[in-house]
Amino acid sequence: MSKLLDGAALAKELRQQCRQNADVLAARLGRKPGLDVILVGQDPASQVYVRHKVADCEEVGFRSRLHRLDEQLTQAQLMTLIRQLNEDSAVDGILVQLPLPAHIDSRAVIETIDPAKDVDGFHIHNAGALMTGAPLFRPCTPYGVMKLLEKAAVPIRGAEAVVVGASNIVGKPQALLLLQAGATVTICNSKTRDLAAHTRRADILVVAVGRARMIGGDMIKEGATVIDVGMNRDENGKLCGDVDFASASEKAAWITPVPGGVGPMTRAMLLVNTLEAAQRAAI
Ligand code: GUN
Repeated sequence: MSKLLDGAALAKELRQQCRQNADVLAARLGRKPGLDVILVGQDPASQVYVRHKVADCEEVGFRSRLHRLDEQLTQAQLMTLIRQLNEDSAVDGILVQLPLPAHIDSRAVIETIDPAKDVDGFHIHNAGALMTGAPLFRPCTPYGVMKLLEKAAVPIRGAEAVVVGASNIVGKPQALLLLQAGATVTICNSKTRDLAAHTRRADILVVAVGRARMIGGDMIKEGATVIDVGMNRDENGKLCGDVDFASASEKAAWITPVPGGVGPMTRAMLLVNTLEAAQRAAI
């Protein structure tokens, strides 16, 4: 039976640290660290996410502002708002919730954000800097996964790491962070032949696909560390990950639960990134 990588508990610790640092910083800056969140349209999942992000900021003593914008907003109008926030010295972090409506070019919008305020780590400057060494910000989910591995003292140098899923938000940056930490990394995608042959070699397996319970215990090496980034509803409407927890936990040494694993860490790392942005602004 495996041990749980408790993301909820570690995220709580990180929020407490953020709160203490925010208070010190607020005394020095004469203002609170500040995050501006932009939501365009009515996507129900996005509405929940942004509410959490704003509530998290308030809990740790950050200033946060939610810009709720109409679905019909033009790309030019959105970019004008972002440029205003770039210039506003009370704004440390800017987050544009994705997905954006189809008439807006997400890439162009993200590139409008000042890289020094890009707390999602999605700007090409930060993505490129992640590849070459030292980004200003690391994307929150993969950064949170690295913190979970660190907390459990999972050995990364020399380990076989397999990342299933190659998105710009999770899979690709996750692979780069693991590589930087000394792992030998394989990235699998939807075209991968014999996925199980790869996953069974993994000392560290990160799954970020978005398909309920697609990785069973038979695809996991005995003693592996299994990180489940998925957040799905199964046929009964029950929340579940991309990994079949019941069978996987028979094989893994460490495993993240869903919920309570990676999700809370993603939220916590947004606070950490916002705090880092404010700390840099204070220098
Ligand atoms: N949509 C789903 N996940 C994310 C995220 O981490 N950041 C942003 N901006 N949008 C998202």
